[in-house]
Amino acid sequence: MSRNTFYITTPIYYPSDKLHIGHSYCTVATDTMARYKRMQGYDVMFLTGTDEHGQKIELKAKEAGVTPKQYVDNVVAGIKDLWKLMNISNDRFIRTTDDYHEESVKKIFKQLYDQGDIYKGTYKGKYCTPCESFWTESQLVDGKCPDCGREVVDAEEEAYFFRLSAYADKLVKYYEEHPDFVEPQSRLNEMINNFIKPGLEDLCVSRTSFTWGVPVEFDPKHVVYVWIDALSNYITALGYGNEKYHDYDKYWPADVHFVGKEIIRFHTIIWPAMLMALNLPLPKKVFGHGWLLLEGGKMSKSKGNVVDPVVLCERYGVDALRYFLLREFPFGSDGVFSNEALITRINADLANDLGNLVSRTVSMVEKYFGGTLPEAQQEGPEDAPLLEMANALRDRYEAQMEHYAFQNGLIETFKLISRANKYIDETAPWILAKDEANKPRLARVMYNLLESIRMAAVLLQPFMPDSCEKIFAQIGAPENLRTWDSAVKFGALDAQVTVHKGETLFPRIDLKKELALLEEAEAKARAATQESAKKEAPKHEEKLEGIAQIGIDDFSKVQLLVAQIKECEPVPKSDKLLRLMLDDGSGELRQVVSGIAKWYAPADLIGKKVIIVGNLKPVKLRGVLSNGMILAADCTADDVKVLFVDDAIPCGAKIH
Ligand code: MSP
Repeated sequence: MSRNTFYITTPIYYPSDKLHIGHSYCTVATDTMARYKRMQGYDVMFLTGTDEHGQKIELKAKEAGVTPKQYVDNVVAGIKDLWKLMNISNDRFIRTTDDYHEESVKKIFKQLYDQGDIYKGTYKGKYCTPCESFWTESQLVDGKCPDCGREVVDAEEEAYFFRLSAYADKLVKYYEEHPDFVEPQSRLNEMINNFIKPGLEDLCVSRTSFTWGVPVEFDPKHVVYVWIDALSNYITALGYGNEKYHDYDKYWPADVHFVGKEIIRFHTIIWPAMLMALNLPLPKKVFGHGWLLLEGGKMSKSKGNVVDPVVLCERYGVDALRYFLLREFPFGSDGVFSNEALITRINADLANDLGNLVSRTVSMVEKYFGGTLPEAQQEGPEDAPLLEMANALRDRYEAQMEHYAFQNGLIETFKLISRANKYIDETAPWILAKDEANKPRLARVMYNLLESIRMAAVLLQPFMPDSCEKIFAQIGAPENLRTWDSAVKFGALDAQVTVHKGETLFPRIDLKKELALLEEAEAKARAATQESAKKEAPKHEEKLEGIAQIGIDDFSKVQLLVAQIKECEPVPKSDKLLRLMLDDGSGELRQVVSGIAKWYAPADLIGKKVIIVGNLKPVKLRGVLSNGMILAADCTADDVKVLFVDDAIPCGAKIH
């Protein structure tokens, strides 16, 4: 009964660290929507994956002493395990290091270049040599590097650019013609006002300062900018530009991309412009969800167990966590995550309302009827409001879910659950049970409760798949009565239904005790971290105020060498930079660019021996390759002196 296709995606995750519960939020929402659409009869494609290229990963791998591929393989395995644990039903998992994806990215880049949407130019900006980062003038803080606060120098690098500016008008026109393209709509206004109105600039889409990326096929010293690589995943995973898959025509354009609010810009400006340039249809919708925060700020893995999704699943159950994430916060807004809120919500909605309703009902059917209801049943005056609500539920739920309003979909469903609990009070089965003559009425009351539970559970399946299966087993609902179609009309359950009492679905959690336990576990974890940090820190080291301390391991990563200046000349069009050729003992002269022209003339330097950082990654400054850095001291705010060393020290001598 396949109605149509539905293609939904999550962002692809950076495997730079372990994921926290904030990362799981989007994946759980996407999974719930995918399950909901499958239940409705859609042929669903649910894509997730990992975004594995870029300088950050390259550095992390280096720190870990492994190759970038080894590094990502390891982290990606953990991410896949997490999704398995959380019952994520993705149909496909893409890694940007997959061969077929890389092949497609190369083709996309080449096509855009061939048709003139990508051109070769020069990236001009400010460069912080120690951080190896380019910055624009406006990103600097007090004219200095925003990351480390040090001086930056003028720098330029050959790079490829995407003609983003040419798409500004087309984008605005598209937004106007498709007012539902971005949701919540306020987020689109932010994009227009903050990015499009001030003027879209062409986008630098290649890098030469690192190698961990998809090489530009026709100019391989460049790697493709990680966002061009990453965004392409949504079509390469369907087989666009490769032979691995063949369902691009079937699923594209995507029905919705779910993304966090901070990456909406990439999905509503760069991605649509890329697709326009490729002459491909745009996704039907980009939904920008809010962030899960912690009291006091942003969530990060360093906040410990409280944000570790594995720990949370183990302590409270996968379904309880999934339910909480989508019930507690409206999908488009930020929310503050806390264990207290999680436990309170589990106790109130799942243990009390839903869990109790199921266990009371099943127990009563067992107690009063030995587990199987009789055919003879009698309607009563209390039934109508319950039936009315149950019959209207699916439409009300659908109206919310179609707008990605998960929270409201759950609220609607739980109205029926509360109503059923109230129905128990109104009909007082324990009184009916006292008189044999009331048995048909009592049977009907039980039936109505079981049927209400069934109809609610059908709609809760996308949120809590495992728990709903257990509920169906307990209330005796067969497979064909767990479907979307079976939730439209009250009364589908067989009158002579047999129940099977099972385990408690959602055990109540003692809030006080649990919070105390967590506190204790966190304190232990903190103490252990402090203890191991103490052990690692050299005992004789004094604390340097405001400067991060490093261990001997960190220091030993820096290769300091003695080198002699053989040639020196100013870098054209720069009053700060000198180009030096150095004998570092390797047998070949090494070229270094240094920002010392203000204090030294070339003649002052030639023949002198200096200390260089030998293993800095090469960069281009004003288009000239610099392969290392000369050490110099800041004497005053405006006086710099190079550290010359004794002529007796041979070139290439290592400094420890
Ligand atoms: N790799 C890019 C996405 C490329 S898509 C073509 C990326 N990766 S990420 O790992 O940093 O983030 C993945 C998703 O997790 C983003 O949508 C981000 O918003 C989301 N979240 C990360 N922390 C979050 C919270 N604390 N709360 C909710 N979502 C958050 O961005």
